[in-house]
Amino acid sequence: MSKILIVYYSLTGNTQFIAEALRDTIEADILELKPIKELKADSGTRFMWGGYQSTMKKKPKLMDFDINPFEYDLIILGTPVWAWNISPPMRSFLSKFDLTGKKVALWMCHAGDGVKAMERYREALKNANIVGSISFQQPLKKESDEHKEKAIAWIKGVDQ
Ligand SMILES: Cc1cc2nc3c(=O)[nH]c(=O)nc-3n(C[C@H](O)[C@H](O)[C@H](O)COP(=O)(O)O)c2cc1C
Repeated sequence: MSKILIVYYSLTGNTQFIAEALRDTIEADILELKPIKELKADSGTRFMWGGYQSTMKKKPKLMDFDINPFEYDLIILGTPVWAWNISPPMRSFLSKFDLTGKKVALWMCHAGDGVKAMERYREALKNANIVGSISFQQPLKKESDEHKEKAIAWIKGVDQ
């Protein structure tokens, strides 16, 4: 059986909601990326600061973890869209681990505009073997059950 790792970052729970739906569907280890300095999820300035960090391609330092992604056959990566791009913590992860040739599947959560961000996500992983990608619009807030079903159907269709 192949070893699967789910890696995600989530500020307000949407990406986490999908991560949990995936974990409940397949056998996988899970790694939540946590920046040492986190934005306040309810702060009015989070869009400005987060958007700035994302646009400037910042790579915030992550809290340590003892999972080695290279030990896995498939890595499923989840990030929110921040300023039409991947979130800075996901950028930190991708800069730390060169996933060239590695089998990956990608998901994103966004608030209505995720197309450009998905192009950039795929571009950031162009040397990996991308076996699937999908986006969700605010899955925690709206039609959660449908989003959950969509996530389950997606991952079942991904070559594991
Ligand atoms: C700093 C920041 C920038 C964002 N930029 C975008 C964006 O460019 N396009 C979009 O559709 N949503 C954007 N969003 C909304 C999030 O992508 C969306 O709420 C997502 O579901 C959040 O995932 P999370 O709850 O896992 O953190 C932004 C949110 C934040 C905090």
